Amino acid sequence: MIFDSHAHYDDQAFDSDREEVLASFKENGIGIVVNVGASLKGTEKTIRLTEEYPFIYGAAGVHPTEVGELNEERFSWLRQQCIREKIVAVGEIGLDYYWDKEHHDLQKKWFVRQLRLAKELGLPVIVHSREAAADTMEILRQEYSAQTKAVIHCYSYSLEMAREYVKMGYYLGIGGVITFPNAKKLKEVVQQIPLERLLLETDSPYLAPVPYRGKRNDSRNLSYVAEAIAALKACTTEEVIRITLENARSFYAIGQEAAI
Ligand code: NI
Repeated sequence: MIFDSHAHYDDQAFDSDREEVLASFKENGIGIVVNVGASLKGTEKTIRLTEEYPFIYGAAGVHPTEVGELNEERFSWLRQQCIREKIVAVGEIGLDYYWDKEHHDLQKKWFVRQLRLAKELGLPVIVHSREAAADTMEILRQEYSAQTKAVIHCYSYSLEMAREYVKMGYYLGIGGVITFPNAKKLKEVVQQIPLERLLLETDSPYLAPVPYRGKRNDSRNLSYVAEAIAALKACTTEEVIRITLENARSFYAIGQEAAI
C-alpha cells in the first residue's frame, strides 16, 4: 500500500474528474493521501476533501508565495483549522525565492509564525523551500524543537544539507524529479540518505515522473518513483513502498485503521 505524503487534489486541474481519479486509488494500491493546503482557500478545500474521503488526511497552511493574504484574523482562523481531527500537519510553509512573489521579510515572518503554531499544537510541518537553502536552514535551526518533526518537501538541495536535516531528525520528500535523467544531485542524496528518512510524494498535479513527465500527476504514478528509489538503493520496490509507508504513518501519526 502506497502512502502519498503530499498532494493537491483541491487543485482546479482535478475539477473535471476528481471523483473518478480518487475512486481509482484503491485498485491501484494507493492507501492514504495527505492533501496539502497552500493557501487559506486551499486549506478550506482540503478540509472538505478530508470530510468526504476516509483515506484523505490534510495539512493546513499558507505557501510562501501566498503569505500576502495573511493577517492576524486569518491566522487565527488557520489555527482553528489545525485543531480538526483529520488535519495532521501544518503546511506547506516556507520560503520561495524562485517565484519571489512576496518580500523575503514577509515570507520569513509567516514561516516563523506557522512553525511556532505547529510547535504549540504538536503537529509536524511540511516545508517548501526553493532557492532559499541558507535562510530556510537558519530559521529551522533558530526555531528548532526536538518534538517538532519536519519534512523538506520536494527536496532539491545538496547532500551535505540533506545530512544536516537528517541529523535534526527531519525527513526528505521525494517525488517525480527522481526519475528525471538530469537529477544527478537528487539521485546522490537518495543513494546516501537512509530509506527510513524518505517520504514518497507526488505534489500532484505537478511534477509527474517519467514516463508521464509534463502531464498532470496523480498518486497512481508513485510506483515509478518507488521503482527509481529502489534502483538507487539496490532494494525492491516493495521494500521502498513498505518502509516509506511506515515513515509517513509515523511522521503524520496516522494509525493502521486509516487506510482505504
Ligand atoms: Ni506542494
